[in-house]
Amino acid sequence: MLIVTPEHNGTMPANLKNAIDWSSRPFGVSAISGKPVAIIGTSFAQYGGVWAQNEARKALGIAGAKVIENTVLAVPNSMVRFAETHPKDDAEIVEQLRAFLAEFVTELDALEAAPAAEEQAA
Ligand SMILES: Cc1cc2nc3c(=O)[nH]c(=O)nc-3n(C[C@H](O)[C@H](O)[C@H](O)COP(=O)(O)O)c2cc1C
Repeated sequence: MLIVTPEHNGTMPANLKNAIDWSSRPFGVSAISGKPVAIIGTSFAQYGGVWAQNEARKALGIAGAKVIENTVLAVPNSMVRFAETHPKDDAEIVEQLRAFLAEFVTELDALEAAPAAEEQAA
């Protein structure tokens, strides 16, 4: 699962928190339990919503998801940066997204291979 979020008052938007909370029940056997999830986003301030992303990672981890920690993309100054240019026409953003997705897929492949390696060792 890939979550793309803005930042609201220094944390994730309330509706994202609500979605994470409800997806965590019944705890341990919920839809989100053990599911690999990465978080990216943009916001108009200078840090690109990293607080929102960190809070979402924390909530998802407690909810039982398998949070991919190493893949991060937080784009600052969204209002200025995308005022006249759509993200799909911003070469730097497209490159960052490509790199992010490549890393995300690598991490998912590693996760998928891990149980097989454990089975072989047993
Ligand atoms: C209620 C509210 C609070 C926000 N708080 C922050 C914030 O703390 N930090 C930040 O970088 N951007 C903040 N923003 C900006 C959003 O992250 C986002 O960049 C902006 O709302 C544009 O996205 P939108 O068109 O989807 O609303 C806030 C926006 C709203 C509506």
